[in-house]
Amino acid sequence: MVMWLKNRFVQKLGGGWLESFGLRTWSNLQFTSLSARKDPEVISLMRGIHAEKRSLLSAFEQYIVYSLAKAQSKKYDGAFAEVGVYKGASAKLICEVKGDKPLLLFDTFEGLPEAAAQDREVHRVGQYAYGLENVQQYLREYENVSYHKGLFPDSAVGVPEQPYAFAHFDVDLYEGTLACLKYFYPKMVHGGVMLSHDYSLLAGVEQAFTEFFADKPEEVIDLPTTQCLVFKL
Ligand SMILES: C[S@@+](CC[C@H](N)C(=O)[O-])C[C@H]1O[C@@H](n2cnc3c(N)ncnc32)[C@H](O)[C@@H]1O
Repeated sequence: MVMWLKNRFVQKLGGGWLESFGLRTWSNLQFTSLSARKDPEVISLMRGIHAEKRSLLSAFEQYIVYSLAKAQSKKYDGAFAEVGVYKGASAKLICEVKGDKPLLLFDTFEGLPEAAAQDREVHRVGQYAYGLENVQQYLREYENVSYHKGLFPDSAVGVPEQPYAFAHFDVDLYEGTLACLKYFYPKMVHGGVMLSHDYSLLAGVEQAFTEFFADKPEEVIDLPTTQCLVFKL
């Protein structure tokens, strides 16, 4: 199954009906499991986001974003950030638990940029394009959320230097992931969490983490979903 999902030709089908059908089916099974053990209100929130067809994260992946952001919000000062917002699904989960902390949302809001050779040609330029105004409307009830449109890290120029407690990366590509790590790693508080989607699915994302942490003291923790996380020491 894993080898099948990691196949380059299968991955090229991403962004279409097959991805959303597969994700919905897989997530429905996961929601059944989560419903037996977790807070019904949280599961209902996540089911709602899936029903709106906004999320590219499975139910378990959504839960991990929610749970980590919640823990970081309770224990640490520092801002929250997400690079790779798309329709705002994972951003909404962070909004639900961040309290009054700032949340900075970075996206081209025009879809994926050019890929590098490390990405093995599985994506298309412009894939996952979704307008900024639609995301602003979707998240309008939450306070202290700022939007940074453009190619990251160029879109971070002018953003004030500040410490971060939680950073979520979901950009699908090698160069974007590496840029996230270079920008956020030195700014994370001790105990801060960097979480990335697609680490064990997309070759470019995994390679960016492997290269960046080769000379750092932190370990990249590979989760049973496609995600990985790093606690800043
Ligand atoms: C897979 S989607 C994000 C999914 C989203 N987190 C969710 O909740 O479903 C990837 C997003 O990353 C954005 N993106 C990729 N590389 C980027 C970069 N270098 N700068 C800004 N946005 C980027 C794309 O525009 C796209 O919206």
